[in-house]
Amino acid sequence: MILNLLLCLLQQIQFAEEKQEFSRFPIKAGRRSLSRSISQSSTDSYSSAASYTDSSDDETSPRDKTQINSKGTSDFCVKNIKQAEFGRHEIEIAEQEMSALISLRKRALGEKPLAGAKIVGCTHITAQTAVLIETLVALGAQCRWSACNIYSTQNEVAAALAEAGVAVFAWKGESEDDFWWCIDRCINMQGWQPNMILDDGGDLTHWVYKKYPSIFKKIRGIVEESVTGVHRLYQLSKAGKLCVPAMNVNDSVTKQKFDNLYCCRESILDGLKRTTDVMFGGKQVVVCGYGEVGKGCCAALKALGAIVYVTEIDPICALQACMDGFRVVKLNEVIRVVDMVITCTGNKNVVTRDQLDRLKNGCIVCNMGHSNTEIDVASLRTPELTWERVRSQVDHVIWPDGKRVLLLAEGRLLNLSCSTVPTFVLSITATTQALALIELYNAPEGRYKQDVYLLPKKMVTYNVKLVTIIYPFLYLGNFTGANLG
Ligand SMILES: NC(=O)c1ccc[n+]([C@@H]2O[C@H](COP(=O)([O-])OP(=O)(O)OC[C@H]3O[C@@H](n4cnc5c(N)ncnc54)[C@H](O)[C@@H]3O)[C@@H](O)[C@H]2O)c1
Repeated sequence: MILNLLLCLLQQIQFAEEKQEFSRFPIKAGRRSLSRSISQSSTDSYSSAASYTDSSDDETSPRDKTQINSKGTSDFCVKNIKQAEFGRHEIEIAEQEMSALISLRKRALGEKPLAGAKIVGCTHITAQTAVLIETLVALGAQCRWSACNIYSTQNEVAAALAEAGVAVFAWKGESEDDFWWCIDRCINMQGWQPNMILDDGGDLTHWVYKKYPSIFKKIRGIVEESVTGVHRLYQLSKAGKLCVPAMNVNDSVTKQKFDNLYCCRESILDGLKRTTDVMFGGKQVVVCGYGEVGKGCCAALKALGAIVYVTEIDPICALQACMDGFRVVKLNEVIRVVDMVITCTGNKNVVTRDQLDRLKNGCIVCNMGHSNTEIDVASLRTPELTWERVRSQVDHVIWPDGKRVLLLAEGRLLNLSCSTVPTFVLSITATTQALALIELYNAPEGRYKQDVYLLPKKMVTYNVKLVTIIYPFLYLGNFTGANLG
């Protein structure tokens, strides 16, 4: 019996070796055309990206189509307005899990705290953001919206928003030129000037600075979600060029402690499974960065039996990784043996070309951090390496000796590009964004200067209270939220 088992195992090992040997010879494939260069933040940041009606076979650019919604309006540009009904279902499904935002919508409906607000937004256009946009509209705002990422738009959702009367300019697979054109169409509208900005990545803010600086006279504030965008705002502030108050949602505790940690814990495996069908048990994985995102990824991978190594540059996070039972290593120590490399640092050049050269055949490489420069993907676009697109968002990069590395989403955020993310967590972040807009829009003159602020604690607590409405069993100690309305 045991002998049979051993024989069986031996056969499997031999088969695996044969397969590996076989895959060392590149199959016929031309070098994939290089993807267009686009603004960094238009390709990173996160959202639930799955689009169920991706009509990529329709090659006509939305810019060349004339479309009208059922009310006769054409102030939008989406892939196909006929997908609106399907998108409406998607939005309704998202609403089920976005209790905090829906509670805010119901509570503030009478007051209309955003009456008169003209919000220009640039975020991922997904069912979850649609719930946010429609909440802002319900609270009195007028909205014009574009996508902060060329790949993340759910076309049917954009259509549903356009059908509902929101001026939305976005579709999945925009070119760089389309990307800026869409942003411009949101701002450059005769008879309409924004007085609030909601940005994710800072591209919209950058465009207003570059093309329409006079608009800032009317802008009451900027709300920024992503680490990149916040970084850009701090740079402006440092240079004395920030001309309106800005709210940093990224560093709000309700984003960091929920979105970054739980969103990644719940979506990392989904992204890897959908793209590679990989089994995690027994696999050796190195996770670079043990901040909130890294912690979430490591916990999920460990739970499925992967052997997880962590690299860190911060001794405190390194110690935390150690105490959580992970082996803290230098990337070079494990680079030749690991089956997966996952970056979660928000830093640049965390995995260099030299390290990519040393990966073993079949290694999966992906990024969960904001920026698509964590893995030096640009260095892989050289003539001696062959790129082969094997699935949507999965490239085999093939070395001259036949070694293949599986690069997911071209080094962009894995969960953004290849999986969905939990709506409930997004709801907390979206509520933070809505509260930040309400706060900046209604703040008496002088409360906020031309600087970057965090959401006031009272608003954060209010957000938590809205979230906990659906957790009646939660023990909140003495906190009743009674004073918070
Ligand atoms: N995928 C998603 O859904 C999602 C969600 C939220 C945030 N993010 C992004 O993920 C990134 C990380 O976010 P976070 O909240 O974990 O940030 P964080 O600051 O808490 O953690 C980043 C960690 O990486 C470490 N680090 C930096 N450079 C490193 C290097 N070269 N090698 C090893 N470790 C290094 C830092 O010391 C830090 O501990 C950010 O870019 C953030 O915008 C992604």
